[in-house]
Amino acid sequence: MGVFPITYRQDAGDVTVGGVRLCDLAAAYGTPLYVLDAATIRDMCGAYVTPLQSAYPNHMVVYAGKAGMSIRLLSFLKSCGLGVDVVSGAECLTALRAGIDPDKIVFHGNNKSLEELQLAVNAGVNIVVDHEQEMAMLSDIATALGRRVLVMLRLKPEIEAHTHDYIKTGQIDSKFGLDKDSVMALAAAYNAHAFIHILGLHSHIGSQIFDTEPYYDLVDRMVAHTQSLSQVLGRDVEVLNLGGGMGIQYTEQDDPPVVSALVAGMAEKLKSACQKAGIPLPKLVLEPGRSIVGVAGLTMYRVGAIKDIPGIKTYAFIDGGMADNIRPMLYQSQYTFGVAQRADATEHKTYAVAGRYCESGDVLSHTVSLPTLQVGDLIVVYGTGAYNYAMASNYNRVPRPAVVMVENGKSTLLVRRETMEDMLHFDVEA
Ligand SMILES: Cc1ncc(COP(=O)(O)O)c(C=O)c1O
Repeated sequence: MGVFPITYRQDAGDVTVGGVRLCDLAAAYGTPLYVLDAATIRDMCGAYVTPLQSAYPNHMVVYAGKAGMSIRLLSFLKSCGLGVDVVSGAECLTALRAGIDPDKIVFHGNNKSLEELQLAVNAGVNIVVDHEQEMAMLSDIATALGRRVLVMLRLKPEIEAHTHDYIKTGQIDSKFGLDKDSVMALAAAYNAHAFIHILGLHSHIGSQIFDTEPYYDLVDRMVAHTQSLSQVLGRDVEVLNLGGGMGIQYTEQDDPPVVSALVAGMAEKLKSACQKAGIPLPKLVLEPGRSIVGVAGLTMYRVGAIKDIPGIKTYAFIDGGMADNIRPMLYQSQYTFGVAQRADATEHKTYAVAGRYCESGDVLSHTVSLPTLQVGDLIVVYGTGAYNYAMASNYNRVPRPAVVMVENGKSTLLVRRETMEDMLHFDVEA
């Protein structure tokens, strides 16, 4: 896929994405601004759905909404054939409001509240059960409401995914899911429940994964677990959810897998593993987040000041920073930087791109080579479509940026910019 959205163009130094000049977007919507390229998102949805249509027709691809969601984005993803995975009541409401079929919503989380589970059961969405207490709570809710609940049981596959410790999830000490024996015991305990129907297993090994081997190992391991579950239930298992986590290219150095080839490979491996195990093919569910929207996104900032510390470094101060992109501070994430205009300039200088927030660590990068900057220039950070808007905060009571989607020379507002007044909205005045 590369580092840039697929519609990225540069014309005499002016950058366009989705056929719209970035400087025109900044003028129309202000900065900082999150921009999503519709064509790139559609392309990435196709990278999952197209190979599966031929190789594994019984599938469902759900977008991991935690990567970033809004009603309009989810309805766009619905038009690309995706369902949605949610991890909170409000995410679930957003998916329902976007018109996602409850059958195509998967509700996750290691500590869902009573209110959230009631919402999920009432709406009829699929629930990934994390542990025994949650199953007991679900049983009470389903029985009280007299509603059948479709569940997957989250199993720790114990596969090493080579990624940052904070985004590994499949290992035995992970807070998510249960070990194999506990999952089987839970399945046995609820097999005959009048309102709980166990669809199958769920697993997820981590995020921003570049190796393909862990995914193939995951297929083998989860097929073996599915076979065991089938014995416990005394019937065929309908679903196997293998999670998401496929990595993307943030910088030239990153080398993620080609999604369509990985997905086709997983489908083939699943078919042969099921055949060997003598079990029917379950519905394959995948939950990509980052790889659907990451590269489609960029964030644009206006340079407010340039501070030179002679012999040490030159800061370019931008009008956003850690509150709209926490990832450099959280995971030491690297990004590709550019400018929206004069992108063809030959004279470059090294800058530390520092945010506006009251933290010394609020620096998006300490060393970026950019065309020599002037106050008022637009700095662009690429690859910010996933886990940026989603993790944004109002630190320092700074309003969060707007989110726009661009396609065929047009822009559509997905989320409006917050205002200073919005920052006071929840305060109770004396
Ligand atoms: C259960 C589950 N599924 C899917 C995802 C999506 O991962 P990614 O955005 O890396 O594809 C996550 C993210 O951590 C997750 O926890």
